[in-house]
Amino acid sequence: MTSLPERIAASLEAAEGLDAPAYKVADAATMVLELTGTASQPIQNALHGTWLGHPLHPALATLPIGTWTMALGLDSSEALGLAPQRELGKAADVALKVGVAGAAAAAVAGMADWRQIHGRDRRTGLGHAALNSVALGLTIGSLALRRRGHRGLGRVASGAGWLALAAGAYLGGHLVYRRRIGVDQGDRSPEPRGFHPVLPAAALEEDRPRRVELWDPAARAMIGVVLVRHQGRVHAMGSRCSHMGGPLDEGWVQNGGLVCPWHGSRYCLSTGRVLDGPSTAPQPRYEVRINNDQIEIRRVLEPGDEALTPEEIDAARAEAEAEAEAPSEARKADEVLFEHHQLLRRLFETVEAMDPNDPERRDMMRLLAGELEIHEHVEDVIFYPAVRPVSEDVPVAHAEHQQLADMLAVTLRLGPSSPEFEEQLRALYEAVDHHASSEETSMFKEAQRLGEARLRELGGQIEAMLEHERESRARRAFRALKIRLLEGG
Ligand code: FES
Ligand SMILES: [Fe+2]
Ligand SMILES: [Fe+2]
Repeated sequence: MTSLPERIAASLEAAEGLDAPAYKVADAATMVLELTGTASQPIQNALHGTWLGHPLHPALATLPIGTWTMALGLDSSEALGLAPQRELGKAADVALKVGVAGAAAAAVAGMADWRQIHGRDRRTGLGHAALNSVALGLTIGSLALRRRGHRGLGRVASGAGWLALAAGAYLGGHLVYRRRIGVDQGDRSPEPRGFHPVLPAAALEEDRPRRVELWDPAARAMIGVVLVRHQGRVHAMGSRCSHMGGPLDEGWVQNGGLVCPWHGSRYCLSTGRVLDGPSTAPQPRYEVRINNDQIEIRRVLEPGDEALTPEEIDAARAEAEAEAEAPSEARKADEVLFEHHQLLRRLFETVEAMDPNDPERRDMMRLLAGELEIHEHVEDVIFYPAVRPVSEDVPVAHAEHQQLADMLAVTLRLGPSSPEFEEQLRALYEAVDHHASSEETSMFKEAQRLGEARLRELGGQIEAMLEHERESRARRAFRALKIRLLEGG
């Protein structure tokens, strides 16, 4: 079921009648910009936030949102007589004025961004702008009323303005979070981490951008990269424009930059930096070398990318071999975890097969919940940190653990005899099975790079922790309490 605000946004998106007025407004804004002549591009860059590396409009929008909300609180306190009234009223007036300045600046920056969007998003943007203009108008009106001594009426006007602001903010959020306007649309795949041949060097002509593709096994997607030979040097950057995904390989070279054919963002060929907006995010960059007449590229990793170069993998293996003194009778970590996966699967099948009204079903469910918790705990604490240097799956697996915990909470709350329980239990089983299977087919394989000795050492630690979790009275009591709380009493 869709919510009322969603339905309103959807009908706004479908309202083609808004297109004609929208183009008139956009044309007028373009004309104003054109009047500024050669200053137009720097002004646009300033308004988009190219200099900031983030869109400027949402940053400015926080000013009216914050100050007008504060004014609403102060006004309410004044109306309720909660504190010295003159002081409260004065503070509310100042807050409203600061917000008016912020709203005006946000409107200009927002208009610059809005000119670049089309179709349904342009209509939503128009609705967003209209609501915010109403909010601004009401707030200015409120300030005028207050100045003439009509404080009560002034408070009503700015309160109504705040409501319009909130509705406008919903549409702004819809544009960003649902329609992905203003978010970085570049392909940020960290692949390839090592040099990878992509094109014979002779096939790349001067100043003629050319697209090549690479396979990212983690994202299971082809990643487009654009190659440009400029003044004899070969450059490479992501081919999907970070502004709205335009094809940079269909763009052109201008003043040392590659221009996007869609809205004209220009990116520095050698650094990927934005030289001209509307884009605010740099393009993903690749290092280039020529080897055996082939162009080879390697991704320049960004801060926060898991460092996983071949050298680092080798280093991790060498370190593991240096620690090869681990007790050899312990089983390997992946074997221990696989066995535990099988136990979890059996428990699921047992609970599924039990009669819904069987009083023991709840106990079996608790046992299952406890084992699942223990499993995630040992992986989070021992296994995942250990395999992080050799497997890219760890962040996803962590996220899946969160998801499994959420699903387990819902299942426990339903109770084993409720009608929805079966469906929820099935969903949880499928999610656990999917998660465990992907560990078995991918992460456990990659973990072999740690070397046998290290895996046995980890296996020993995991078995010890499994035992401790099951045997320790304190840990058992803690888990039991948690499960009761999740069951709702
Ligand atoms: S998609 Fe808008 S400038 Fe590239
Ligand atoms: Fe897991
Ligand atoms: Fe697991």
